[in-house]
Formats: sequence, structure tokens, C-alpha cells
Amino acid sequence: MASKQPLKQGEKVLFGIFAAFLALAVLAYAVLEVVRLTSDTPMFQSKTSYDLSEEGKLGSKLFRERRCTACHRAMRNGTNMGLNLDGIGSRRDREWLFDFLTEPERMYGAKTLDHGYPPKEAAYVAQLPKEERMALATFLSELKSERGSASAPLPPRDDSGFIDRMVEMWAPESWRKEYKDVRTAEDE
Ligand code: HEC
Repeated sequence: MASKQPLKQGEKVLFGIFAAFLALAVLAYAVLEVVRLTSDTPMFQSKTSYDLSEEGKLGSKLFRERRCTACHRAMRNGTNMGLNLDGIGSRRDREWLFDFLTEPERMYGAKTLDHGYPPKEAAYVAQLPKEERMALATFLSELKSERGSASAPLPPRDDSGFIDRMVEMWAPESWRKEYKDVRTAEDE
């Protein structure tokens, strides 16, 4: 058996730094949890929501069973590496979604990556039975997002100092007359 050797100076420094990082991470986590558990406003606001009808629930099940989650994400399920479909119902309606699932290239009016004709990887989607495409479209149309969320078509309603400053800095004077501020637009 090798006899125990005392740690070298460099090793002590290295382990010391590692221990300091570890202690800091544990401490930061503990502080975060304490703040999160004792605060009475939620730390992370969810701006996407879903209220599923019966057909929507069927669509949600199909969304997982038909491997949509391999490339998409919705309701906290699926992969982060593809297109996130949370909130899509606030941008697209059920008809558009159904038509997209059926004829992706026509609806995009541009080259598609995965949806479309074989041998594209998601070509099978257009070949799913009509009722399944309907249910999937219904499900997706029920994924809503609030104004101001990253997936919402409209910015937050309240005044935003940040947006005001950006407009002041970058928008030509004439734009202020030509365009109207969408922040004051009503919801559809
Ligand atoms: C192999 C990966 C893949 C699979 C599987 C897949 N998708 Fe997609 N999906 C994409 C990509 C990539 C896009 C962007 C359009 C394109 O280039 O094909 C997209 C776009 C979409 C869009 C349009 C979003 C928008 O706002 O433009 C919808 C809706 C959609 N997918 C639904 C589905 C559903 C429902 C399924 C399962 C039945 C599914 N996808 C399976 C990769 C995939």
C-alpha cells in the first residue's frame, strides 16, 4: 500500500478553491429557496396558460404519442431544442394550425425544415388521420399566452421605460406619426 503523502501546496490551493465554490453554490441555493418560500409574490410568473376542452385533452395525449415532443415543447413537456409551442394559440387560430399540419409548405409559403413531404422527418404528421390532426390543432389553439410573454403577439400593456427609451433612441421622428403604438392596442 502506498504510504499517505501530505498534500502539496498547489493541491491545497486547488481543493481550497473548489471547496469555496461548492460552499458558495450551496449557500446561494439555500438563500434562493428561503426567499422563494417566504415571498408572497411568485418569483417566476407564468405568462402562458392552457384550459383544455375534451378534444384538446385528446390532442394533448396525441401530442406526446405521435412524437411531437421529440421536436417541440408545450405545457412543460418535450424538448427545449425545437420550436416551443406554448402560447401558439394566441398567434394562430385552429384553422391555420389544422392547415399547417396538413399542408405545411403552402401555409409557410417558404421552405420548411421538417414538416412537408417525405423524406422530411416530420412528413408523417400530414399523413395522420384527419381526426388526429383536428384534435392536435384544437389542443394547440388552446395554448394561450398573456401580453408581454415571449410568445405573445403583443407587448405588455403597461408603460415600459425600456421600450420608451428604445423608441426614443432608434425610431425616426416620422414613424411616430406614421405608426401607432401597439402597446395601446386593444386585445383582439
Ligand atoms: C422532426 C422534428 C419535428 C417533429 C417530429 C414535429 N415537428 Fe412541428 N415543427 C418542426 C419544425 C422544424 C418546424 C418549423 C417548420 C419547418 O421548418 O418544418 C415545426 C413547426 C410546427 C408548427 C408551426 C409553428 C409556427 O408557429 O410556425 C406546428 C403547429 C407544429 N410544428 C406542430 C407539430 C405537431 C402537432 C407535431 C406532432 C404531430 C410536430 N409538429 C412534429 C419540427 C418537428
